[in-house]
Amino acid sequence: MTTILVLNGPNLGRLGTREPEVYGSETLEEIGAGLAASVPDGVEVDFRQSDDEAELIGWIHEAVDRRLPVVLNPAAFTHYSYALRDAAAQLKQAGVPLVEVHLSNPHSRETFRHTSVISGVATGVIAGFGPDSYHLAVQAVLRSLG
Ligand code: DQA
Repeated sequence: MTTILVLNGPNLGRLGTREPEVYGSETLEEIGAGLAASVPDGVEVDFRQSDDEAELIGWIHEAVDRRLPVVLNPAAFTHYSYALRDAAAQLKQAGVPLVEVHLSNPHSRETFRHTSVISGVATGVIAGFGPDSYHLAVQAVLRSLG
């Protein structure tokens, strides 16, 4: 069984009602269920969300220790959390895939969203495709595992 940890940062638990014109109308729970239903046999998605930086860092440490590939939507932490970046760098050091995802395309939005402190240690980045960003990221992880 291949387990992919799909981690979601702050305010993503509010999807469905949070700025639907930007993020769409699906809830995070629905996105997680769609993802779980779409993965091939032998693949399991462990889908989690936290508003707490420390909890997200702990989950990345867990992924490093268990060598679990990660799909990460760091949400607003994308733009300023050096602590999350330092945790993510340990995935890179361990050779564990990390795909950064965004529902929206941050580069077409406010200037402060144009910087990601995570991208430099990610295997790749997928942004702007709504919930499909997650599906594409899982595909990218599975391909990278070969
Ligand atoms: C986001 C983009 C971030 O800029 C924002 O803070 C989010 C969501 C996205 O998925 O488009 O919370 O990561």
